[in-house]
Amino acid sequence: MAEQKSMNITWHERQVDRADRERLLKQRGVTIWLTGLSGSGKSTVAVATEHVLAERGRLVYVLDGDNVRHGLNTNLGFSPEDRTENIRRIGEVAKLFTDAGIITLTSFISPYRADRDAVREIMHPGDFIEVLVDASLETCEARDVKGLYQKARAGEIPEFTGISAPYEAPEKPEVVLDTNERSVEESVSELIGYLEEKGYLGKP
Ligand code: ADX
Repeated sequence: MAEQKSMNITWHERQVDRADRERLLKQRGVTIWLTGLSGSGKSTVAVATEHVLAERGRLVYVLDGDNVRHGLNTNLGFSPEDRTENIRRIGEVAKLFTDAGIITLTSFISPYRADRDAVREIMHPGDFIEVLVDASLETCEARDVKGLYQKARAGEIPEFTGISAPYEAPEKPEVVLDTNERSVEESVSELIGYLEEKGYLGKP
């Protein structure tokens, strides 16, 4: 838990609640938390899922590591402490989005199990779906979409996940998407299939 620095603050009750917003939107808010190595396909799957759900008339939003680090988390690097703070902030943002009634997809390596578990803890039960985007280091390194693995191997990027920093895979994720062999479309339909089966896409 982050330290509470501000004193003399009071929680204000409001007159419009989540149920009101979900009725308006005709959907249920949820956070779909994608975790996996850089290059495993998190952002690709998130963006493709967002597109499919938007086409179906859902309000959906992707929070993405590289993008959020340009704004909200511009002051954070890749030390273990900074990654923890990165995930803590995103968790809080995702919680607000979920409370707003939005289907929220997050795409962050989020390498530490404890950090992801801390996000699950602050969410209401059932609001947090952990999705392991599972591609081996070999696959990610062979793809090397951003050329970062090559740089990391050359020692040009310190603390690079999978090379010189750890990745702790979830022990009991709600969904595992094996992207080693499968296409983006297959991963998207598997994820949407899970959401349908569990009633996340039905009316609230
Ligand atoms: S996290 O570990 O804190 O969850 P996040 O998902 O926000 O990471 O950012 C990861 C992205 O930053 C990677 O996809 C990659 O493009 C870039 N990146 C830059 N440096 C590193 C590094 N040392 N380790 C991992 N990713 C890095």
